[in-house]
Amino acid sequence: MTKAEDHILVIFGASGDLTYRKLVPALFDLYAQGLLGNKSAILGVSRTQLSDEVFREKMKKGILAFANFGEESKDKIDLFLKSTFYQSLNTFDVSDYTLLKDRLEHIDAEFGNNGNFLYYLSTPPNLYKIIPENLAHHKLNRQSKSIGWKRIIIEKPFGYDLKSGIALNRDLLKFFKEDQLYRIDHYLGKETVQNLLVTRFANGIFEPLWNRNFIHHVEITTSESIGVEGRGGYYDGSGAMRDMVQNHLLQVAALVAMEPPTTIEATSIRNETLKVFQSLRPLNDRNVRNHVIRGQYTAAKVRGKQVVGYREEEGVDPDSRTETYVAMKYFIDNWRWGGVPFYIRTGKALPTRVSEVVIHFKPTPHTLFIDNKDFSNNGNLLVIRIQPDEGILLKFGMKIPGAGFEVKNVNMDFHYSDMKQTYVPSAYERLLLDAMLGDATLYARGDAVEAAWGFVQPILDYWKNDPDAALYGYPAGSWGPEIADQLITEPEITWRYPCRNLAEDGIYCEL
Ligand code: BG6
Repeated sequence: MTKAEDHILVIFGASGDLTYRKLVPALFDLYAQGLLGNKSAILGVSRTQLSDEVFREKMKKGILAFANFGEESKDKIDLFLKSTFYQSLNTFDVSDYTLLKDRLEHIDAEFGNNGNFLYYLSTPPNLYKIIPENLAHHKLNRQSKSIGWKRIIIEKPFGYDLKSGIALNRDLLKFFKEDQLYRIDHYLGKETVQNLLVTRFANGIFEPLWNRNFIHHVEITTSESIGVEGRGGYYDGSGAMRDMVQNHLLQVAALVAMEPPTTIEATSIRNETLKVFQSLRPLNDRNVRNHVIRGQYTAAKVRGKQVVGYREEEGVDPDSRTETYVAMKYFIDNWRWGGVPFYIRTGKALPTRVSEVVIHFKPTPHTLFIDNKDFSNNGNLLVIRIQPDEGILLKFGMKIPGAGFEVKNVNMDFHYSDMKQTYVPSAYERLLLDAMLGDATLYARGDAVEAAWGFVQPILDYWKNDPDAALYGYPAGSWGPEIADQLITEPEITWRYPCRNLAEDGIYCEL
């Protein structure tokens, strides 16, 4: 990986969990690998009054607990933290930003960062307008060759619906140009998600088959075994459609479906992503009723442990109708995908944490080898496992040695873990480094975010406007509402259930 340009990373919301668990550990990992220059510095900003020392102590704990190189490079932690600072600030108060400006000038003078500032908004979304505006008021958004670059990273949610998504883009663009904006979707930072592009476009064998002539349908699953885990307050106003589908799942689906980009650069790749979103067949009320299933987990015993239902979670309205599960079928109306159903599902409190893309190839036109109990003519699958046990699995029929023609589905698989010497960077490591290098390839562009909102908006409207819109309960630890199986209407085809319970306490997921 290329070393970052020297800069100051300013983290707004630095006293929060994300900074402690993800951002600073990822920054330390970059540092431990020599990818952060000695002239780079970090400035944590938030309202809480903290000294540099107290902030450093807290970050040290985060690094030891969450960084990949924390234990191995323990001796480097104090050195790394010497270039970590903290500034308390009332982000709403424009006059307070003089403190920030002074501090930045001071650090820049000490380290020599050439005026390169990368702002990271790890804050509630209601600050996404005010912080850029206040930075702009103090000219902290201005960039040029002589005064350095200024970039800003924002975390999802990028709006709450189509209208607010458009408004957010409009507000951001008042103070920063599109090429200064980095909208983080941490799924795009996952190695296996990026590997989708390599699998498709670096191998001659897949791309000729990657279309409506050979692919029967595509399935994308992102399941989580945890519930809302103390985030009930946020989640209850969001739900799985906004939290996972509008961003992570649609972004992954776009990489599966996109046309080959002209180059492997931000503009080309993001143009192709946008085209996929623009080709999504718009949903009407009838499609939503028939093709979108939402569910909410209910209390159940999971592997011997009692799990509370969603409505009993802290911060959740006891009458909440927020979905913790979504399964849906949709189509991409273009030449490559005409008529091919895409099935996506995501949920909390499912049996296990697994994310995968499954390409189901069409069966042979005629079944020669019949009466084989271990073989299905629908069996050619390419499974791209995003997490855990990252890798790729191809399933196909093989003859069992011996008389006759007994056929069995067998697996050919590749596991990332087999590449022993290869270090797999965390999504935040990869994405932060990219922003430091000015590479927005793996960040969502404003027009694509709006197009994705445009696609899900009819679903949100239908659920909001129809008090009788179905919301299915499903016991925590199950694979969601059983009715989701009926989305796939063809005989012999179901969702892929990659995991099975081994015993009371164990689960085995095939890859
Ligand atoms: C986040 C969602 O964006 O992604 C969470 O807000 C979800 O609700 C998380 O748990 C899942 O990410 P990962 O990387 O653990 O699959």
